[in-house]
Amino acid sequence: MKIIVTGGAGFIGSNFIYYELKNHAEDKIICLDKLTYAGNLETLAEAQTNENFKFVRGDIADRENVYKLFEAEKPDIVVNFAAESHVDRSIEDPELFLRTNIIGTSVLLDACRKFGIKRFHQVSTDEVYGDLPLDRPDLFFTETTNLHTSSPYSASKAAADLLVQAYQRTYKIPATISRCSNNYGRFHFPEKLIPLMIINALHDKKLPVYGKGINVRDWLYVDDHCSAIDLIIRKGTVGEVYNIGGHNERTNLEVVKTILKILGKSEDLIEFVTDRKGHDQRYAIDPTKISRELGWTPQTKFDDGIKQTVAWYLENRAWWEKIISGEYKNYYAKMYDNR
Ligand code: NAD
Ligand code: DAU
Repeated sequence: MKIIVTGGAGFIGSNFIYYELKNHAEDKIICLDKLTYAGNLETLAEAQTNENFKFVRGDIADRENVYKLFEAEKPDIVVNFAAESHVDRSIEDPELFLRTNIIGTSVLLDACRKFGIKRFHQVSTDEVYGDLPLDRPDLFFTETTNLHTSSPYSASKAAADLLVQAYQRTYKIPATISRCSNNYGRFHFPEKLIPLMIINALHDKKLPVYGKGINVRDWLYVDDHCSAIDLIIRKGTVGEVYNIGGHNERTNLEVVKTILKILGKSEDLIEFVTDRKGHDQRYAIDPTKISRELGWTPQTKFDDGIKQTVAWYLENRAWWEKIISGEYKNYYAKMYDNR
């Protein structure tokens, strides 16, 4: 099997590449990635030593190059992770999100249409369902929950999902979609909540919690997301959507306090700052379908996964120190100074 993994130099895509190389040593993996600020070739250094792995730099919205790649490689499967993924950046500058997340997905689908494919898998997000109220813990997102988006990021992901479904119906592209909750684990870019809080705490810098810190996210260890996608591309039913999540709901404040406790740092580092515009209240996935139909269950509990994640950031300082010493400094100042 030859698999093109787009966005494989980012957080989840890279973890997925390592998962596939380990669990399906017979398969060939080609990573197509533009290497935006979120892509990092150092993350793939170990994969580059595997003869079944190849890295190709390129933009999923660049039709000519995507077609050339498909013509040359004739992939069996495409797993599309490539995206602009950060909600706060989408609020500052939506346009890039539309280009990569919508146009990019349509170019990949056209390439599948032109050159043929056994399976196209779209890595989507629970954010396409909007949010749930904090006072209704009995409610969960199922695959039939209406799409109802809040940010330019989630709107662009929902648009991509609709395109995938349209191509599946109209052109019979054998496509599947997964919608996962918040991931955490190694190689998570420092702009996101968990790595940002770990890194700031290590520097005894203030931890900027938006609003009152009461928003709820449903955290899933990244390896559990990878195992779910692996099952869907091999055993999932064409045309289906699968929700992925493990009932690990935490308020942001709980997450931040857990990190401080693991690091032995004071809660005085917490600073409440101006809330995110349009901030989604609560995400919570009902994973019944993937569990019943594909036998998927998450393996890592939040309390264990968060300890492993903090340990990874402590042991891999060079990976994130390089990131935060570059352009990231300007991003951080723009987003957080005087917030
Ligand atoms: P990330 O930002 O860490 O990585 C994105 C990767 O895509 C980077 O390597 C980047 O260089 C690449 N990329 C961006 N634009 C590209 C383009 N035009 N062409 C080719 N490559 C491009 O993102 P992530 O957190 O790993 O998320 C991966 C996917 O999973 C996204 O589609 C996201 O919507 C989805 N998702 C993420 C989470 C989460 O918690 N992080 C949860 C559910 C779903
Ligand atoms: O649910 C899946 C989604 O999870 C993915 O589709 C997105 O790509 C991914 O970025 C993530 O989106 P969130 O917006 O939930 O993640 P983020 O890490 O940006 O924020 C998590 C929560 O923490 C959110 O309620 C906002 C809050 N937050 C975030 C940052 C960066 C803070 O309070 N302070 C911060 O500095």
